[in-house]
Amino acid sequence: MENQFLGNNNFKVSSQTVSASCPSNIALIKYWGKYENQIPANPSISYTLNNCRTNTEMEFLANEPFSVQTFLAGTEEPKFAEKIEKYFKNIEKYLPWIIQGKYIIRTENTFPHSSGIASSASGFGAIAKCLMELNSKFSNGNQKTVTDNQKASFLARLGSGSACRSLYSGLVVWGETPVVEGSSDLFAVKYPNEEIHPIFKNFNDWVLLIHEGEKSVSSTVGHGLMNTNPYAERRFQEARDNFFVLKDILKTGDLQKFMTLVEHEALTLHAMMMMSEPAFILMKTGTLEVINKIWKFREETGLPLFFTLDAGANVHLLFPSADVNSHAEPLEASVEKIKSFIEKELLQHTQNGGVVKDEMIF
Ligand code: DP6
Repeated sequence: MENQFLGNNNFKVSSQTVSASCPSNIALIKYWGKYENQIPANPSISYTLNNCRTNTEMEFLANEPFSVQTFLAGTEEPKFAEKIEKYFKNIEKYLPWIIQGKYIIRTENTFPHSSGIASSASGFGAIAKCLMELNSKFSNGNQKTVTDNQKASFLARLGSGSACRSLYSGLVVWGETPVVEGSSDLFAVKYPNEEIHPIFKNFNDWVLLIHEGEKSVSSTVGHGLMNTNPYAERRFQEARDNFFVLKDILKTGDLQKFMTLVEHEALTLHAMMMMSEPAFILMKTGTLEVINKIWKFREETGLPLFFTLDAGANVHLLFPSADVNSHAEPLEASVEKIKSFIEKELLQHTQNGGVVKDEMIF
């Protein structure tokens, strides 16, 4: 299977500048634990966001020795360049022209760096897209066995696992599961749109910035902790099982069950970290206050506001959008109530009043 991604040696490089934009994503069934060569321990599924993106320009100077220079929002980032250089060497067999020439990579995120929104997902997604753009300019009519976007997803995965899901819009699956035809551990695929109830096709994700600053555990270290976690195998099996549950939910539009499953996945991710050796608690006081307030709000109003978490303290607030045709009238009033509850009750738990408002529409 992997062979179809190998590059062929029929190419000719020239100096070029290409650019790409790639969104971030938020997982509903989480990827947490992996094997060698970025093979996930379980399948995951995420919503691709609309507004949180990385925009990247890649300048390739063909007649210079191999090197990489990176700028984030105009500031040179030598550490990031080192990482990219290593990554390029790692993917040489898939892009045989890559280790020659100088790369100047200018990148910027549309969301604050400190937000904990996965910049590695959108970042590697955008870089993989730029590389495929160069590849199509350099390759001489190669016979293609995979599409450029599929190969971009494959390459993005080798940079950061969750990045492979950012190459597609809507709901996106990475990791083999019998629930999704064509799913693979090597690249992501779109969850079939016709299998998704309209209520899930227009959703809000407002990210409350509870704690701005560096995360206390990198995802590489975090995934590694699953190697010795005594609950790991049970967790991987649960994620696989959850795909069957989710399939049904997505088809029937059962929002109650959706909320339960998504929150359970988020809390399980954090529970895994708490049960690791060494243990990590990434939630802050504000995270817990927000979760408790959401549960109380739901109990009192029955309105569909719920949350998911990444490997950090910030809270992703999920709720349907008002524009879902089939639900237009009653939902519109509910969404307004949810928004005003967030502004009045939840924003106070952020460090600096920070909230990033995103949405998924497809
Ligand atoms: C908690 O994709 O950042 O966001 O493959 O080591 O780069 P690497 O990890 P990364 O892990 C993301 C983990 C997560 C859950 C998810 O996005 O599925």
